[in-house]
Amino acid sequence: MSSAKLFHSFFQKEPSITTSAHGRVNLIGEHTDYNNGFVLPSLIPQSLQVSISLRDDDKIIGISSEFGELQSSISSSNDGTWLDFVRGAIYFCQKISPSIKGMEIAVSSSIPSGSGLSSSAALEIALLRAISQLKDISIQSEEMAKIGQQIEHQFVGTQCGIMDQMASACGTFGQAIFLDCENLQTKSIPVFAHHSFVIIHSGSTRKLSHGKYNERKNETSKASEILEVPSLRHATIDQLMKIEDPIINKRAKHIISENDRVLKAVSCLEQDDPISFGKLMNSSHHSMRDDYEISSDELNQVVESANKNGALGARLTGAGFGGCVVILTPNKELPSVSKSVLDDCPQAYLVTTISKELNS
Ligand code: GLA
Repeated sequence: MSSAKLFHSFFQKEPSITTSAHGRVNLIGEHTDYNNGFVLPSLIPQSLQVSISLRDDDKIIGISSEFGELQSSISSSNDGTWLDFVRGAIYFCQKISPSIKGMEIAVSSSIPSGSGLSSSAALEIALLRAISQLKDISIQSEEMAKIGQQIEHQFVGTQCGIMDQMASACGTFGQAIFLDCENLQTKSIPVFAHHSFVIIHSGSTRKLSHGKYNERKNETSKASEILEVPSLRHATIDQLMKIEDPIINKRAKHIISENDRVLKAVSCLEQDDPISFGKLMNSSHHSMRDDYEISSDELNQVVESANKNGALGARLTGAGFGGCVVILTPNKELPSVSKSVLDDCPQAYLVTTISKELNS
């Protein structure tokens, strides 16, 4: 059901505005964003819609197609529900337009949550689009992404990087966004003409992700302190010998090698070399499985099955600890690769496909 219909059936009136934002898949460059490195996400067709009306009091009344009905107020403490995102968006918009108070809100989404496809960033961006349009305040896309990230840091509790919000706020369909997280410069690059990225959910949802995510962030900050660099973006692979702690060493190895893989993957995309791109995806997955330790048995099984059945490469996408795998395959092999993976991994399901031919 659309968010406007949900709003109407729940609040018995029309919403003042409906906006939406898309999820993203990250093609390569995982956990590099909060180390000021490189990422290569692309929008997915699935999106999240919000319909809202502003209120004259401090109440927030919400209905979500996935998470049900909730009530709170703009001054309540964070409670781990999706209203934390709403409270965060109101808080930051109030800094620009102090007259904003509570709201009624309906949310509906086709982005599977907890799958590494950025349903949270889509909620932040859709909310900021809605409030800014309603109050006639102008927030540029990059600024919106930064506010979205602050909502996560201050209201949700994930010390995330900027990739998801930048992709959701600034991405274009059928293009990969090469983002330099140090200066937020972006470059759009068309995806391969005769190859597709298939996104398959491994069947395991993300578990304990906030804690593990923040733990990885602390481990990589520790590594940059040891190496005396402002961030691991500025470290090289030969510096690794200076890190004695085996865990911190492995974490840093993943980030440094992953940044290098993103730069190489960008060249592969520009030079239409899907074979080398696929190899980089496989090395990226191995690095996340063995050095960053964010994979799961289900994710590994999907990656192995894809490679065994004719894919050029595959890797987990997003924060890890469950969620989705992105697979690169020639367009003509797409149906057989997807079918074989789904046969091999009965708990897995197909989410979507990113393809120049199929999406145009
Ligand atoms: C989550 C975070 C991003 C990024 C990815 C891992 O999606 O929100 O900032 O760190 O994990 O690449």
